[in-house]
Amino acid sequence: MTEKNRGQLIVALDVDTFEEARQIVATLTDKVHIYKVGSQLFTACGPAIVRHLQALGKNVFLDLKFHDIPNTVAQAVKNVVRLNIPVFEKNEQDKRPGASFGAVILCTLHTSGGQEMLSLAAQIATKEAEAAQVMKPKLVGVTVLTSEANKANIRDIVFQRAQEAQASGLDGIVASGQEASFIRQKLGEDFIIITPGIRPPGSAVGDQTRVTTPSEAVQNGSDFLVVGRPVVKAENPSLAAESILQEIKQAKDSRP
Ligand code: C5P
Repeated sequence: MTEKNRGQLIVALDVDTFEEARQIVATLTDKVHIYKVGSQLFTACGPAIVRHLQALGKNVFLDLKFHDIPNTVAQAVKNVVRLNIPVFEKNEQDKRPGASFGAVILCTLHTSGGQEMLSLAAQIATKEAEAAQVMKPKLVGVTVLTSEANKANIRDIVFQRAQEAQASGLDGIVASGQEASFIRQKLGEDFIIITPGIRPPGSAVGDQTRVTTPSEAVQNGSDFLVVGRPVVKAENPSLAAESILQEIKQAKDSRP
């Protein structure tokens, strides 16, 4: 990803029902273009919520954090790829005035599942996207959860798992803003870094541990900033998102 496109906001739809998710997306209107659907919402509504977001022209980060035997994970990844509509169909849809069609652009799996699991998933994703003529979601490995405490060697563990993810053909990793700049430096400009555990100054940390502010994450080279509760549970989600977007913009503008 180019430096210009770094620091995109993803709002995590960590709610229980389709209706709650629909309302948040409607409230955030044109401010937010990418939504994270995780296990909480997906186990409640399944692919219907992905379809809904796609039809609104929103992109989806499907965060189901696969971790199983290689074949099971690969088959699940294949079905994630199939959620995207064929490129020719998307082009047709996009021609309609005011219409566009979103895609599942990111999907997670646990790097601790091992190299065989990761590389089989990467192979199947490429093969299936070609066969179905759809956009391939970027496969992103979870390294160490941002809720895990800051152990002395955490940067080494994150780096080792990130290296393994890259060697297995994954497109990027999930890492806290605290490790992002090191990973960026070591693994290159194109390796995607997604950073959750984002906390705007003064907001509650909750169960997260290795938190960073939106501007720190941008300065450290994160491509995508995942924000859940600080927006979704805010009294005014639209204002909360707006203020995070402002902070991201300022951090991007002040980059050397
Ligand atoms: O509410 P909060 O901003 O803490 O939400 C962060 C989101 O990012 C949650 O949906 C969580 O599942 C997700 N996430 C995370 N740590 C990771 C990967 C994903 O917190 N390593």
